[in-house]
Amino acid sequence: MTLALQDYPQLDTARLLLRGFRDDDLAFMQVFALRPALWRYLPGPEPTAELVAAYHEARLQAQALGQSGDWHFAVEQRDSGCMIGTARLSIQSREHNNGSVAVSLDSDTWRQGLGREALAALVAFGFAELGLHRLSALVDVENIASQHIAEACGFAREGLLRQNFNLRGQWRDSVLYGLLNPARD
Ligand SMILES: CC(C)(COP(=O)(O)OP(=O)(O)OC[C@H]1O[C@@H](n2cnc3c(N)ncnc32)[C@H](O)[C@@H]1OP(=O)(O)O)[C@@H](O)C(=O)NCCC(=O)NCCS
Repeated sequence: MTLALQDYPQLDTARLLLRGFRDDDLAFMQVFALRPALWRYLPGPEPTAELVAAYHEARLQAQALGQSGDWHFAVEQRDSGCMIGTARLSIQSREHNNGSVAVSLDSDTWRQGLGREALAALVAFGFAELGLHRLSALVDVENIASQHIAEACGFAREGLLRQNFNLRGQWRDSVLYGLLNPARD
């Protein structure tokens, strides 16, 4: 199956548009994705312009192939038209109808409620559109902003995963968050 950009799901919120990736997103990503604040708690190598370009290309290719089960959205700010981040919902098990979510935004836009808005849109998509039963998120113990938006969207703190990630050479504990679909059995 191939999926044209216009067929990719689009999630509208008051201030944001979560949509498929476009060619012109790369210029924005090359600015915000390289800011250290963004990747401070995210595992993986320290981002470089080459890695950001490879990630962007991978998104375009996956989108064109219509790979389902792993929804990566570009987050666009409506008033500026700028691409300011990414939001992902990955289905972990179709048998058990559960998935995981993550949101990352340009640090220049933080603390305006946009992270919460993007996460709420992912939750609505996962429950209402995909019919999932459960969503989860893994958050570094020191990633306070991410913990705030998870709790603001109704996620419950379910436990602590000890040394679950290796953050560029340092073992890190993660908080496990879970949210059940209130509309499903
Ligand atoms: C997580 C993230 C998307 C939140 O984005 P945001 O637009 O700032 O989120 P919001 O403004 O909706 O909410 C942030 C909340 O955290 C709070 N917060 C942020 N930093 C904080 C800090 N250092 N200490 C205490 N509270 C903090 C804010 O006050 C706000 O809480 P409130 O709504 O109760 O006032 C953003 O911080 C980010 O992109 N982080 C880097 C990528 C990342 O780690 N993603 C998570 C992967 S699991």
